[in-house]
Amino acid sequence: MITVGARLKVTFSVVVFSVLVVVAHANGGPRAASSAASLYTTQAPSRGGTGKVYMGREISAVMGHRGAAWLERSSRVLEEWPDKVVARMGLEPEHVVADLGAGTGYFTFRISPRVPRGRVYAVDIQQEMLAIIRERMTRRGINNVTPVLGTSTDPKLAPNSIDVVLLVDAYHEFSHPYAIMTAVMKALKPGGRVFLVEYRAEDPTVPIKRLHKMSVAQARMEMEAVGLRWLETLDFLPTQHFMVFEKPGNPPTTREPRRQLGARITYAEGFLCGPPLSA
Ligand SMILES: C[S@@+](CC[C@H](N)C(=O)[O-])C[C@H]1O[C@@H](n2cnc3c(N)ncnc32)[C@H](O)[C@@H]1O
Repeated sequence: MITVGARLKVTFSVVVFSVLVVVAHANGGPRAASSAASLYTTQAPSRGGTGKVYMGREISAVMGHRGAAWLERSSRVLEEWPDKVVARMGLEPEHVVADLGAGTGYFTFRISPRVPRGRVYAVDIQQEMLAIIRERMTRRGINNVTPVLGTSTDPKLAPNSIDVVLLVDAYHEFSHPYAIMTAVMKALKPGGRVFLVEYRAEDPTVPIKRLHKMSVAQARMEMEAVGLRWLETLDFLPTQHFMVFEKPGNPPTTREPRRQLGARITYAEGFLCGPPLSA
């Protein structure tokens, strides 16, 4: 049950954040907003936390590459149902997917066979994680995965290039969530989707540290702050939320018939523009 105090705290955070974003945008757009230190506040770090607070949530510390074996633990299949996660992503063979905060590629290598004519960009800020991914690619002869070394503010994805972004157990530790998600918005094609999987903060029985969990209300607030639209939250997983967001605009699939007809198509802010089908 959410207390009146907690509700007031969230409302206050939203109002303060909205004012800051508007001011920062007026001063030069999302880039200025993301670099505006005032989007974040600081407090004494909690256990496993950074002390950096974004929209009322303390950002967790980053899981170091020495935890790689933990990501690959055999019990994880039973705990997180990774194959069901990927099955629910609605992937098509030519989809271009970004596994953002890919770690060892636990999800990357489950996505790769589902997009044989597409690509998976496995983005991480730790070279050591990308080295593990490269080694697995070589060993398995996989050529539709591209490891990408991102930075804490830039996932290094080309504009309008991505159909689907997957974030599993990673977003809560991004040190600059506003900058990263603003970049994700730019990288997504109109109608592109973000699947955000995080441990359920609303459930105190989920045996994970508080800062490694997220509530739906918090996640929605943070995603909507960059313009993503919440579509649904599916709670088919044992302990995690599976939250679905969309970049407003026409879904990428609408361009297929036109491309087959050889029409030249340009996209502007989510609207399909181009010559009539008879052209
Ligand atoms: C807990 S691991 C989860 C890895 C993977 N998604 C999985 O479920 O197995 C989180 C990963 O996010 C990465 N990470 C943290 N901040 C990041 C950022 N700003 N951009 C990309 N990756 C980031 C970390 O380096 C770490 O490998």
